[in-house]
Amino acid sequence: MPAAASNRRTALDAHAAPEPRRSDPDAPVDAQGDVDCAYCGNKRFVLDARGELKPCPQCDTAQRWKLAALAPFSSRSALSSRQTFLNFKTRFNGVEDETLVDCLESAEAFANNPFGRWLVIWGERGSGKSHLCAAVDNHLTQAGIPSLFITMPDLLASLREAIDLQSNTEQESFTGRMNIFKTATVLIIDDLGAEPSSPWSDSVLFEILDYRYRNRLATMIATNVNPDDFDYRIASRMQDTELSLVIENAAPDYRRRPLSEKR
Ligand SMILES: Nc1ncnc2c1ncn2[C@@H]1O[C@H](COP(=O)(O)OP(=O)(O)OP(=O)(O)O)[C@@H](O)[C@H]1O
Ligand SMILES: [Mg+2]
Ligand SMILES: [Zn+2]
Repeated sequence: MPAAASNRRTALDAHAAPEPRRSDPDAPVDAQGDVDCAYCGNKRFVLDARGELKPCPQCDTAQRWKLAALAPFSSRSALSSRQTFLNFKTRFNGVEDETLVDCLESAEAFANNPFGRWLVIWGERGSGKSHLCAAVDNHLTQAGIPSLFITMPDLLASLREAIDLQSNTEQESFTGRMNIFKTATVLIIDDLGAEPSSPWSDSVLFEILDYRYRNRLATMIATNVNPDDFDYRIASRMQDTELSLVIENAAPDYRRRPLSEKR
């Protein structure tokens, strides 16, 4: 309700019917103002042939909600939002670096069609793994595909926090957050293996990856660890040639390249 209208309410209105709850996520969207979707008239829902309400396919409400729901868990940063395929260099001192070309092309192919695929990039510090994770995430977000870019330390921290919160909501409970990581349309895990592993973190990681493996859900992983060196159940799933492309990024540390090579 506009502020001016609510100011007109007096004590006499006190017993009138309660205002609808504005925080109700199921409340219909006001169709006042500009109608941006002619298909549903900004209702964001349409009736399907069986008379059931379905998110409007034109506004892509379900996708937008999914994108919004993933945002609080993302490890996106000011730096990552600027990392794209275009500013990923593959040529230094006039020479094309084949390993970087391979990594770039694999990441672009994954971003263009992530469904039913895994991409694992492993390599040394500063070789550009996180840059490519961010570029994939930015590309998918631009395309309206819900992707969750999260570092393994952030993922574990959010689960530890959930245990402390002892809440029942999807966003705050341990089970709710596990379901978000298990079912995200595209999950991009950076820095896998960056933390010392424990039986708890191994079991959490296995549960997430095994679910995504069995359901063939789009997953990208970046790690400093040789895939052979993970727990054998994880190592084996990561390297299933029917599902996963494993690629080594053997480029030297970009951070330590002379400035003249970065221009
Ligand atoms: N080929 C490249 N072209 C342009 N910038 C790059 C390239 N490789 C790395 N960088 C930049 O160098 C910095 C380090 O790269 P990045 O964070 O991707 O490394 P990393 O492989 O994830 O390293 P770490 O293992 O330490 O996490 C970033 O600012 C990134 O944008
Ligand atoms: Mg990194
Ligand atoms: Zn619509």
